[in-house]
Amino acid sequence: MRLPRSVRDADVAGKTVLVRADLNVPLEDGRVADDTRIRASLPTLQLLLDGGASELRVCSHLGRPKNEDDRAKYAIAPVAARLRDLLPDERIRVLENTRFDPGETANDERYAHELAEGCDLYVNDAFGSAHRAHSSTEAVARLLPAYAGLLLLAELEHLGRLLGEIEHPFVLVSGGAKVEDKLGVLRNLGGRADAVLIGGKMAEKLRAGNPLDFDVELPVDVVGADEFARDAETRVYAYDQLPDGWLGLDIGPETRTRFVEWIESARTIFWNGPMGVFEWPAFAGGTEAVAEAVAANQAAFSVVGGADSVRALNELGLADRVSWVSTGGGASLELLEGKELPGVAAIPS
Ligand code: 3PG
Ligand code: MG
Repeated sequence: MRLPRSVRDADVAGKTVLVRADLNVPLEDGRVADDTRIRASLPTLQLLLDGGASELRVCSHLGRPKNEDDRAKYAIAPVAARLRDLLPDERIRVLENTRFDPGETANDERYAHELAEGCDLYVNDAFGSAHRAHSSTEAVARLLPAYAGLLLLAELEHLGRLLGEIEHPFVLVSGGAKVEDKLGVLRNLGGRADAVLIGGKMAEKLRAGNPLDFDVELPVDVVGADEFARDAETRVYAYDQLPDGWLGLDIGPETRTRFVEWIESARTIFWNGPMGVFEWPAFAGGTEAVAEAVAANQAAFSVVGGADSVRALNELGLADRVSWVSTGGGASLELLEGKELPGVAAIPS
């Protein structure tokens, strides 16, 4: 895989640097609910400060604002405040949410010129947004000397390992609801995997008809629920004995044992997507079993991507036990599908 040139090779002393980070974090009651992405952007900012940059203009989108009312809801202020707490330095200035400008998502040159104005250099560290061709990720890279930040490079290196020579057994675990998004990755990587373990909504979809040209491991049993509710009545069923009107909301114990055995034997693991409705404790067991097995296998190179799987890992306190936790959802999927990411393509080698 082609790697874009590194910010480590840029001479930034005395320069004003435009930094695109992915500070698109979840908010709750106007406050930052999870600052993982803010923390992940710190090493590049610190490197630029240590290199003597005179000013860092940090920009990011936040949420998907659609109208004037959303301007208050998605103002960058709470994110900027958290960044200031984590890295207090007067040379850092956080620009307002890039998506408040209608030019941003249109990859508009006019907005790119506005961002570039007065800057000497552009550093893109926003891996999570690299699959978007927007003014702040793509057009602006053509206006200023462009470099890749440390997080962007680390993501490409770790995820890229899955596209190159891998150690076997290679076990791919996929679940969650966004089935279409994940089929591309299965198509591109699944043929090289020794086992493809499928849970969640994905499993139902593939059971109805497998569009892939290799076999996948589907759940043999499920945790059934008599309605789609947190406090539904639950009972374990073989998948083909689920009564009419009942829903399978998690993988069952027999399936967990099979999946865990595969994960224990693996030397390379990629996991994206929960095994069930893990937000509800009654249906969290399958996802927890997978998370624990991935974390326990210290002999494997393990990569976890996608907001829900990462959240499950964080809640279990296991994130530091896997080889790489990706800050990208859609971006990591598109990369593993074999697509070129526009935000990466725009940076020279
Ligand atoms: C993400 O959270 O997936 C990225 O920040 C990209 O956001 P988007 O899906 O709104 O473009
Ligand atoms: Mg997304």
